[in-house]
Amino acid sequence: MFKGVKVRQDIHKILFLIYKYNNTLNHSNIKNIIRSHNKKDVSLLNNVTLNSMRLHIHCLKIIKKYIKKKIRDHEKILLISAITQIVFLDFKEYAVINCSVEIAKKLKLYAGLINASLKRIAKDKIALKEIKIQYSDFPVWFKNETKNLSTQEKRKFLNNFFKEPDLHIVFKTKKYLNQFNEDIIKTSDISGFLLNKENLKDKKGFAKGDWWVQDFSSFLPLHNFKIENKNQKFLDACAAPGGKSFQLLTKNKKVILNDKNAKRIQILKTNLRRLNFNPIILNKDFIKFNENEKYDVVILDTPCSSVGTIRKNPEIFFKIKSPNFNQLNNLQQTMLQKASKLVNKNGFVIYMTCSFIQNETFNQVNQFLKKNNNFIVSSFDMKKEGYNYSKLIKNNFMITLPNYIFNKNIDGYFAVYLKKIK
Ligand SMILES: C[S@@+](CC[C@H](N)C(=O)[O-])C[C@H]1O[C@@H](n2cnc3c(N)ncnc32)[C@H](O)[C@@H]1O
Repeated sequence: MFKGVKVRQDIHKILFLIYKYNNTLNHSNIKNIIRSHNKKDVSLLNNVTLNSMRLHIHCLKIIKKYIKKKIRDHEKILLISAITQIVFLDFKEYAVINCSVEIAKKLKLYAGLINASLKRIAKDKIALKEIKIQYSDFPVWFKNETKNLSTQEKRKFLNNFFKEPDLHIVFKTKKYLNQFNEDIIKTSDISGFLLNKENLKDKKGFAKGDWWVQDFSSFLPLHNFKIENKNQKFLDACAAPGGKSFQLLTKNKKVILNDKNAKRIQILKTNLRRLNFNPIILNKDFIKFNENEKYDVVILDTPCSSVGTIRKNPEIFFKIKSPNFNQLNNLQQTMLQKASKLVNKNGFVIYMTCSFIQNETFNQVNQFLKKNNNFIVSSFDMKKEGYNYSKLIKNNFMITLPNYIFNKNIDGYFAVYLKKIK
């Protein structure tokens, strides 16, 4: 067998499972495939799989240019991953083409077509690297859900969505950040972008639990939230894998962690063990929570399309199936209503989503405020820390597309502090 065929065959298998069967990279089928490879192959596998999904719209444009006849799903996916490697990752083309042809033969695909078209594409690879896509090339569901974006916002998203994500980490205290021995671009007294992302688990303080990985956008709402007194009682209604709760636990706040998903609770527990936190954890459906017990702050980081995290989760555009917006929007509103009943007078519901889609963000809040005139949008004034993030805040709402700060990329996100005034 030609060297590299086995790992590329598995890349194909994984991409097909995601594309056709809606699997995620965390699905046990996919994890089992990845586990069967050595460290070097896993790194190749992750690199090619993630970039094939990130760049698949660019690749489809190239395929259209070079192949006029209709191709099958397997052929399309094999070509996407081969083009990603040849054009965008600068891999040696003869190795990629030979492996792709072998895989095509094994899968009884049109190997001649794969061979001939990849050779032509490889010849033009320098020019093809610059291929431009349009907003009209995005999935129909995404175009429908983002009709309200301005031309400038659409252009910005188009230029950003396929880039590799940067890595943002949060320290338990200022002291840990100051003692850290790696290059960091600071985003606050306790957080920053880590410049060298390799061998994360071997870096100073990781095993000891001095810090965790959390995107800047999802860190800012709680970092900026003014905690009024030290006895405030928090409920993190959708807590796993834990980022928001860690921010409170490190300040010794009283917080109860809940999540409906038992598998995600296990990940949460592993994270809590490493960070040496030992809070109360519940594994319940938040919708069915007992309403007799009240909280000062309910954190509602609701399930959503996650489209703000497109750079980390490129399968969102890659898989055939669109997010179920009816179901998600109903759940988001039901959770907001439920939270309103659990929060004390003068308390807060912090509503957040890793999305910038109107139906998951402003429309949810507006619908909620219409039904609940005992709630107001509270101020999102920035903490005075010497950093200016005002471009992310509009009228006391935090809203951002996948964006940049300090030349490093951050997720698209939405957050609002809803205060119960009576
Ligand atoms: C966006 S994630 C939360 C991320 C988390 N807050 C963090 O910072 O790491 C949404 C979570 O909601 C959970 N979830 C979905 N439906 C739920 C429900 N009905 N009750 C409680 N949790 C739910 C999911 O299992 C998922 O872990």
